[in-house]
Amino acid sequence: MNPAALIPTPDAIPVGWAWFEGLNILTFALHMVMVNVLVGGGALALYLKGRRDPVVTSFSGKLPSAFALTVNFGVAPLLFLQVLYGHFFYTSSILSAGWWLGVVALLICGYYLLYLFQHASGKGGGTGYLVLGLALILCIALVMTSVVSLMVRPGSWTSGVGGSAGSFLNFADPTFAPRYLHFLFASIAVGGLALALYARFTSGADGAATQETGMKAFFVFTLLQMATGLWWLVALDRPVLLKFLGDSSLATATLLVAIGCAVGALVAGASRKVIPAAIWTLLTILTMAGVRALIRSATLESWFSPSALTVTGETSPLIFFLATLLVGLAALAYMLKLAFGNRKEG
Ligand code: HEM
Repeated sequence: MNPAALIPTPDAIPVGWAWFEGLNILTFALHMVMVNVLVGGGALALYLKGRRDPVVTSFSGKLPSAFALTVNFGVAPLLFLQVLYGHFFYTSSILSAGWWLGVVALLICGYYLLYLFQHASGKGGGTGYLVLGLALILCIALVMTSVVSLMVRPGSWTSGVGGSAGSFLNFADPTFAPRYLHFLFASIAVGGLALALYARFTSGADGAATQETGMKAFFVFTLLQMATGLWWLVALDRPVLLKFLGDSSLATATLLVAIGCAVGALVAGASRKVIPAAIWTLLTILTMAGVRALIRSATLESWFSPSALTVTGETSPLIFFLATLLVGLAALAYMLKLAFGNRKEG
């Protein structure tokens, strides 16, 4: 079967595709910050549980909030992904439908387990809930990586049609392992940074030891993350790789800026400067999200380009969206202040 037969006709878009690509990059970066805080924060909470450190215990109690924010920040990139690449994303999620729909059950159970952990950890227990909750969260990430890596591989789709019954997982893809490990190591690095920030802003000098532990995790896992990023790069299709090695000035420049930001984060991590490390890390995640979007469009180049989509020129939905986004972000900032602020919980 010709895989092109599985690509539906795309819908028209209201404004130029670059708007949606930019908003996808921005909101995906926010989603990944929260995913990393959740996964890395959970892993560190588990690793440090035996220490009975009050800062770590208080930080662990925020995991259900991190989970809720991860889910909320997943919705926006999903919308923008569907606007531009829906005809690829739908096909890959249908080929993996069993796993994809299973994510809903995993989300509900994972969320509930983190609440059980939060409740039990106050009494010194709850390790089992945390281990199980983290395992389910890692399974969600596995399905996410599989579906979004499969959507750029129409050539692999036909092996999943007719026999897979919606159970296709893209594990055989050469980019799958480095991509998943890159996310995993990034999570522990960002989780360490989040713990260090939390210790600094909630406990001051009392949290110095926890801050040091968080920054150490940040530094070591940033190094590991760089290694897996390099592995992902060399695992790309050769024409895509060459774009980042000079064939496309935009791709090469974006990658160089992203690597520069990552080096900035590493240097700040090595000298235990928490705030500069956080700023460099945010810039790295944002620019790496741009690199990832360029990889997606370059990998799909022979099948589709978003610039080919019909533009209807209706600007009002975008204006309305941007206005509500600003209001939403302001409300979120206020909510975060309440949730993570240094206050006693009732
Ligand atoms: C605990 C819950 C979640 C975890 C751990 C998680 C993890 C991830 C990871 C690791 C990726 C990157 C995949 C890759 O590029 O290899 C990803 C991408 C994505 N996630 Fe999530 N996710 C979660 C919840 C959600 C939810 C609830 C939604 C939607 C409502 C969502 C929407 C997305 C979308 C749309 C992408 C791809 C964005 C793009 O390619 O432009 N996620 N997620």
